Amino acid sequence: MSDTLILSKRWGKKDSHTLASYRADGGYAALEKALGMDPAAIVSEVKASNLRGRGGAGFATGLKWSFLPKDIRPRYLCINADESEPGTFKDRYIIAHDPHQLIEGIAIACFANDIHLAYVYIRGEFKRQAEILHAAVQEAYAAGILGPKLLGRDFALDLHVHRGAGAYICGEESALMESLEGKKGYPRLKPPFPAVVGLWGKPTIINNVETLANVPWIVQNGGAAFAALGQGKSGGTRLFCVSGHVVRPGVYEKPVHYNLKKLIMEDCGGIVGGRAVKAVIPGGSSAPVLAAHEIDVSMEFDALKAAGTMAGSGGVIVMDESTCLVRALARISKFYAEESCGQCTPCREGTPWMEGILHRIEHGEASAADVDRLEQVANSIAGNTICALGDAAAMPVQSFLKKFKPEFLRHVEHRGCPYGEHAWGLTQ
Ligand code: NAI
Ligand code: SF4
Repeated sequence: MSDTLILSKRWGKKDSHTLASYRADGGYAALEKALGMDPAAIVSEVKASNLRGRGGAGFATGLKWSFLPKDIRPRYLCINADESEPGTFKDRYIIAHDPHQLIEGIAIACFANDIHLAYVYIRGEFKRQAEILHAAVQEAYAAGILGPKLLGRDFALDLHVHRGAGAYICGEESALMESLEGKKGYPRLKPPFPAVVGLWGKPTIINNVETLANVPWIVQNGGAAFAALGQGKSGGTRLFCVSGHVVRPGVYEKPVHYNLKKLIMEDCGGIVGGRAVKAVIPGGSSAPVLAAHEIDVSMEFDALKAAGTMAGSGGVIVMDESTCLVRALARISKFYAEESCGQCTPCREGTPWMEGILHRIEHGEASAADVDRLEQVANSIAGNTICALGDAAAMPVQSFLKKFKPEFLRHVEHRGCPYGEHAWGLTQ
């Protein structure tokens, strides 16, 4: 399996975030090359690369670009840097360590799609990263990379950095657009998809930070070379964020189809204290959980789907045998209940119900009927809401109950946590 690094190869280098450092390593040569290409040929290369969205859904990037209606202008590009899914912490690394790689990817995407205005929507809490990105954008303007003439060519491109205000839901693409338009971040019904009716009613491409940071490499090396790094319908490498009970947590760049168990047991040094794995969430807290015997699996999008879970945002959360899974799930459910925007009934009413039932199970105040009720509430949320937050809240509950129900029932019988009040949840 290839050791090629695309996204993280410059991390840790002195001043890697500056234009001088980026250019010294060949930065903006891909943009130069792209500007000499037919824009349609760039889109074709991205299609051939099998680059899939790294925000979580894994949608084919080239295909998404090709959905833009041919005859409507202006078009916009929004870069989703709202990274808030628990367990996910990669986009902030790209922005902090190599912001020009992202800016170059944005510029190529805009040129390829005839877009002259782009917005980076960055999570409000990322103050330092927003400052680094803002400084990099200013450097790019001063160097004539951005502005009225993209690298001196007859193509204008403006790029704005917009800070969110701390709402998880504003990372949902249609809520992000509402927020950018100055409104409350309520998700919109889809279809129409943003590629057709987006920002201010105009066609809009919304791509995640990591997705776009791959584009300069694809232009330089060709779509086929990127596809060859991956497997099946997924090309390239991706950033896996590993947290929890491993010896070496952190961000790891690996081929998109890397083995989950190998990542945990070899790259991350295994479990602290030599303890055993109990459960792993492979793609951010909304992804269905895997039991220990299920983790010897490729992390490629379709492979994890076949395993009954999702590659999602690449957030690998590892829980060892000392974890109380009721406490862990209660913590996850509290998050989604707090972040529900309240627009639709199953999510607004159902998420606090799940949080409340889990609290009662954890503290020995629930009956076996409550465990069934928890499952019913999750089932009535899933698939019945405007945006994916409803599913994100329901899927962990459904999967924890499917795989670890006896542990929930033990809490009922034991009138509390059988592991004691110091057992690990995700809060510690
Ligand atoms: P989705 O599957 O509805 O859409 C994926 C993308 O493809 C969107 O940009 C959508 O507009 C586009 N698309 C889908 N069908 C289309 C069509 N027929 N025509 C045009 N465009 C189309 O998924 P969604 O709701 O955008 O994202 C959900 C994912 O986000 C979850 O899997 C979760 O893992 C992830 N997520 C990531 C977070 C993070 O911090 N990175 C936070 C929360 C969720
Ligand atoms: Fe809002 Fe939840 Fe409905 Fe999404 S599913 S629109 S977060 S209430």
